[in-house]
Amino acid sequence: MSSRQSMHGLWSSRLAFILAATGAAVGLGNIWKFPYIMGQNGGGAFVLVYLLCILLIGIPVMMSEVMIGRRGRQSPGLSVKTLAIEAGASTRWQIAGWSGLVASYFILSFYAVIAGWALSYTFKTASGLFTGATAAETGSAFSQFTADPVVLMSWSAVVLAVTVFVVGKGVHKGLERAVNYLMPTLFVLLIVMAIYAGVNGAFLQALDFIFTPDFSKLSVNGILLALGHAFFSLSLASGAMMIYGAYLPDNISIGKTTLWIALADTSVALLAGMAIYPLVFEYGLQPTEGPGLIFVTLPIAFGGMPFGSFFGTVFFVMLVFAAFTSTIAMIESTVAWLVESKGYSRWKASIGSGISLWLIGLLTVFSFSGAPWASFELDIMGKKISNYFEAVDYLTSAIMLPLGGLVIALFAGWVVKQQVSKQELQTTALSYWLWRFAIRWFTPIAIVVVFFNLIGVLDPVLAFLGFSGASK
Ligand code: PHE
Repeated sequence: MSSRQSMHGLWSSRLAFILAATGAAVGLGNIWKFPYIMGQNGGGAFVLVYLLCILLIGIPVMMSEVMIGRRGRQSPGLSVKTLAIEAGASTRWQIAGWSGLVASYFILSFYAVIAGWALSYTFKTASGLFTGATAAETGSAFSQFTADPVVLMSWSAVVLAVTVFVVGKGVHKGLERAVNYLMPTLFVLLIVMAIYAGVNGAFLQALDFIFTPDFSKLSVNGILLALGHAFFSLSLASGAMMIYGAYLPDNISIGKTTLWIALADTSVALLAGMAIYPLVFEYGLQPTEGPGLIFVTLPIAFGGMPFGSFFGTVFFVMLVFAAFTSTIAMIESTVAWLVESKGYSRWKASIGSGISLWLIGLLTVFSFSGAPWASFELDIMGKKISNYFEAVDYLTSAIMLPLGGLVIALFAGWVVKQQVSKQELQTTALSYWLWRFAIRWFTPIAIVVVFFNLIGVLDPVLAFLGFSGASK
């Protein structure tokens, strides 16, 4: 072990870390985003690629990040720098940490807005607004809601204020206490919802949509989105896992712990799919709806089912809880850095970050309200972008996170000394070997191949294998 100490405190137990890191991983990514991007990318084949990315790329990268964090015991940029110095390598490697801070800042700028939608929908559903609502009604309720920038700004302000409050209180008092209650509640609620949807909805059709891979429906861009979403969903390359690793006590095995987190995250995503798609099909709704999917489709279902307002409220409360444990993780690394390097108090650092995030979030707010200055047409490597929200989402998930993951893999596999990684990961000889092989060879090569794909180099091979719409 290194003798470095974290100035921000440590988790009180292995369970506390698992809950916090699972809380960071599980969020809108699993419940809001996964179902709609799965729908936009054809279902089963996208899900399969996503699961393979989690297993073969996500888990090794997560182990590396937690390892780097614990060894460095500081905010991500400074931890990587410290480890680079320890390994006698260039301090330029610290980009592997800083890029995470930038990515999570951008992500949080839109994430807080969507979390605001969920918060607002909790109240809308509880008030019985959707009772007996038709598709046309929930659709126009959603477009009216998102068309009002002042309303969206106010809800995202509430989300950021709560986040700032929890983070301001610090690791033990704030984060740990919050996640201790939130995570288990979320799990139970989601299982109840999935059972309900399974019994009352088009269960078999949903099962087929999610689990039967049809590769002709998966585009090359879809593969990149699946990879990017594996990173997004596990909170990788965004500083979160490194900073939570920095608070992990020395004697805890990183290998086993990481597996638990990935398993929990993946099960929540699949459970969310199972809670949503039976209803989508039962009520004849469209999987390709986009970011509004759960907000437009689910209220129809909640409006039509017995005790719908109750189930709907439970669902949105759960979504809000899941979002908070993620927003907290996204802001923590920036706050930790401001405290370490600028000497700010946790309160000052959190409040400052919260205000600036709210301001950047306005770009997302105006993207949805359709302000002309927030709308534009762009084609980034075959992906059509039509506003700031889509641009920031694509820039982070599809580009920054996978590239950040590449640098982290190279750093952990080739720069950090074997003796150090062995000591930190504390895992069996076989899993250490598997991790090392994955992180040195498989992960970097796979990420590079997916990017090459996108610029069309592999089109002929993929066309031969039966993929559709090369580079689109
Ligand atoms: N993993 C979170 C989710 O799925 C999002 C997140 C990304 C959280 C990056 C922290 C850091 O919603």
